[in-house]
Amino acid sequence: MSTNNFTICVLPGDGIGPEVIGSARTVLESLASKAGGPALTFKEYKAGADEFERTGDSFAPSVLEAGKAADAVLVGAFDVARLPAEATQPLHALRHEFDVHASVRPARSYPGLDSSYGPIDVVVVREVTEGIYSGIEYSAGPDAACSVRVITRQASARTADIAFRQASQRRRKVTAVHKLGALKLTDSLFLEAVGDIAKNYPDVEFETRNVDACALELIRHPGEFDVVLATNTFGDILSDVAAGVAGGLGLAPSSCIGARWAYFEPVHGTAPDIAGKGIANPLAAILSTALMLRYLGEASAADTIDRAVEAVIANGPRTGDLGGKATTADITAAVIDAIAPA
Ligand code: NAI
Ligand code: MG
Repeated sequence: MSTNNFTICVLPGDGIGPEVIGSARTVLESLASKAGGPALTFKEYKAGADEFERTGDSFAPSVLEAGKAADAVLVGAFDVARLPAEATQPLHALRHEFDVHASVRPARSYPGLDSSYGPIDVVVVREVTEGIYSGIEYSAGPDAACSVRVITRQASARTADIAFRQASQRRRKVTAVHKLGALKLTDSLFLEAVGDIAKNYPDVEFETRNVDACALELIRHPGEFDVVLATNTFGDILSDVAAGVAGGLGLAPSSCIGARWAYFEPVHGTAPDIAGKGIANPLAAILSTALMLRYLGEASAADTIDRAVEAVIANGPRTGDLGGKATTADITAAVIDAIAPA
């Protein structure tokens, strides 16, 4: 029974964001009332593409202040593709202002869920502030455009440290991903920074792989990987690959934890193809709240959520992405049913 009380800033965003975040909130409320979870005060704010169309501002300064004032931030997803180049990209703003460098993305198989690829239990640690997503782009005449890939020693080292710390608590192996043949300067610097951090963790096995080979091996031999450490774009892609091997984006949570602030979100986006239909899988958002509870020091509440999700995956119902016909509301009710009373 937790006696703690936390304020959670909630940014549901666009598309299925509000649907899955609504589900996750309901589960957290039930955790508090039924299983002695911590009391949570939710403060919800609008941000994203819908908000941009309504007000001309996709991420108001007051939302950022509310995020900083809260104990943690819970995010749905933002329809970035609908935002014009001049609009603030909410996640870029959060990452820079929260001074977080890495997104931690666990992907694991669940009992009862068939995978064509064999068991997987990996954490992709993705740098989230630089690389090709640095946002430095320019036209080079009418027929060419350029993006600048920024890699810094500081961001690489901070991300590497998070990866090695994760590995020390897991199966003690880090695979750093690069494309050194093509990206000689930037990925040399990345690997050098990572290698320096590796020296601080002599108990953790350290290897490097080319990104394309790593994608293939994650599918062919997922059991070989423990922690995959990657620059921004490579980590974006490989975390979807790992999620796909584990069972799909509907089950993939993430955390972005800095020294002072942190936010939690499902790995998936706004899923415009199924938005508004009430059929999105809320489990990735619900699993993200378990990561949030762990960060808040509520390990037992986090375990309760993880166990309830495991039970639902093992015994059904399932949403369409996992081969079932259940709705978001069905899954929410099933998770709440599966929460063991305190
Ligand atoms: P997506 O992740 O939204 O969807 C990819 C596919 O997975 C779709 O077929 C979708 O229906 C399915 N899917 C995703 N989440 C699901 C869930 N919870 N339950 C069932 N099926 C699910 O990626 P997409 O379509 O490439 O991007 C859509 C928009 O989302 C774009 O504007 C993109 O920029 C944005 N996006 C935002 C992210 C964020 O805010 N963190 C992350 C990824 C994409
Ligand atoms: Mg992605």
